[in-house]
Amino acid sequence: MKFAEFESFKMAYEEVGSGIPLLLIHGYPLNRHMWQPQLDELGKDARVIAPDLRGHGDSTPTEGIYTMDLLAEDCAKLLDHLRIREKIVLCGLSMGGYISFAFARNYPERLAGLILTATRAAPDTEEHKLNRQRSLALAKEQGLEPIIEAMLPRVLSPTTLQNRPDLVQTVRKIMQRTSLQAILGDLQGMMERADSRPFLKQITVPTLILHGKEDPLIPVEEAKAMQESIPNCRLVLLDRAGHLPNLEASEQFNQAIREFIQTL
Ligand code: MLT
Repeated sequence: MKFAEFESFKMAYEEVGSGIPLLLIHGYPLNRHMWQPQLDELGKDARVIAPDLRGHGDSTPTEGIYTMDLLAEDCAKLLDHLRIREKIVLCGLSMGGYISFAFARNYPERLAGLILTATRAAPDTEEHKLNRQRSLALAKEQGLEPIIEAMLPRVLSPTTLQNRPDLVQTVRKIMQRTSLQAILGDLQGMMERADSRPFLKQITVPTLILHGKEDPLIPVEEAKAMQESIPNCRLVLLDRAGHLPNLEASEQFNQAIREFIQTL
């Protein structure tokens, strides 16, 4: 693990391998450790960089709303810190995907390719917002644990929940490394995120969508709708995978990324 020191916080990150930079942005309420199978396997194909977003994992927290633009800016600053001037491949999972849309909007010149996984372009519905308000109240009253226990069955496929207790425990432990400030900051940031659907047709870089066939949180239909709107886009659906296909179907996931990088 290394650190980049910024004015308002210290960002932890992992960096392995060489080649085209592949920046991996984790979801909520997770951290860089969710990318372990990619850090282990993709270093031969790319320079893999996986940060902990502010307040997650080993990165220090800040107070306030973590807007998707703010988190995208943190990622751009990390690239500056690493003196990366060449174009990168950006891969974001779920909230990491929302951040990827903000990054693609704000720093299009930095992108060679985009990988959207287990994410959606649509903003929160009124029902989503209500659920986030409930989570905010719960986190303030009772802390992290009830949030995590409610999240696990929403992010893992029925197959994983039934047959892979070790993976369930791994994900629980990763989630436990999230600060309360980050939970509150993320929930508010996701709640007010922009509608990225009108932006999809403006994405000009080659794009890969990876989505678990058993995703309990974001239906496959959302991935299909994104593919139809993005001009140069391939969709790969992953078997026996839920909302964390990079962990639940890591070999298929890594293979799809390898093939994608080779086409760039
Ligand atoms: C995530 O997995 O990053 C979040 O659960 C996404 C969301 O809540 O919209």
